[in-house]
Amino acid sequence: MYALVTGASSGIGREIARQLAQRKYDLIIVARRVDELNDLKLELANAFGVNVVVKPFDLSNRDNCVKLHWECLEYDPKIIVNNAGFGRVGAFADHDLAGDLGMIDTNVTAVHILTKLFVQSMGEGRILNVASMAGFLPTPLLASYAATKAYVHHLGTAIDYELRKAKKPIRVLTLCPGPVHTEFGTVAGAEAALPGMSAKRCATIAVRGLFRNRRVILPGFTMHLTRFFLRFLPLSAILSTAYSIQKKK
Ligand SMILES: NC(=O)c1ccc[n+]([C@@H]2O[C@H](COP(=O)([O-])OP(=O)(O)OC[C@H]3O[C@@H](n4cnc5c(N)ncnc54)[C@H](OP(=O)(O)O)[C@@H]3O)[C@@H](O)[C@H]2O)c1
Repeated sequence: MYALVTGASSGIGREIARQLAQRKYDLIIVARRVDELNDLKLELANAFGVNVVVKPFDLSNRDNCVKLHWECLEYDPKIIVNNAGFGRVGAFADHDLAGDLGMIDTNVTAVHILTKLFVQSMGEGRILNVASMAGFLPTPLLASYAATKAYVHHLGTAIDYELRKAKKPIRVLTLCPGPVHTEFGTVAGAEAALPGMSAKRCATIAVRGLFRNRRVILPGFTMHLTRFFLRFLPLSAILSTAYSIQKKK
């Protein structure tokens, strides 16, 4: 049985791919860096004897998302992990528009397209969309990124409810990690301001939550606690705390 993992060339996606291979899933792995994908293919085929199909795609391009879905149909994947994404730290006014739109294309549009097309084409299965804790709160100095992740969170949780109501055997689950040690910080142009968990631990919690059909998966006790207390904080306190954390980056 196949699983599709986007953003599998590093970080959380690569670890999720490893853990699904360990569970004997054949894989379709996607990212732009083909060498990293080929290395992972070799590693997983040797370690677990699974088939791994490499699909080097830039998912910030809408046509590529549609093409990827089309090319996946022959494998009939039962798990889709929409993980590819990135952030940009800094003042909204300082970021160029093209960069923001590239992030929206990758974090939002690609996730929307792949979720839509797989919900429509798959008979049964699970879609895991990777959002972020940042999606729970407006985040100064990470404003556009946090807004993209709020979209992913709201879209997935609402669709999952619809599908359950319609008794369709498809789940749309949302992973909301806090800080995780990956290439994310380097790509975002920032140092980590808070201690993070390893990508392996995050992926372990994600994959466990996936098979338990958890609608929203929060990796780690601290994230559960944070989300709980966020309910009681006034917006002004949330904004000033989020600002201070991002400023440290
Ligand atoms: N690390 C954190 O603290 C953290 C916290 C919350 C949420 N997240 C989310 O977790 C997900 C994975 O991030 P990560 O932390 O594992 O960072 P990462 O190590 O930088 O991995 C990001 C992955 O996304 C792929 N990607 C980026 N842009 C792409 C594009 N246009 N087309 C195809 N693939 C693309 C990258 O591959 P290529 O560069 O090879 O294309 C890479 O495989 C992201 O959605 C991120 O927003 C991360």
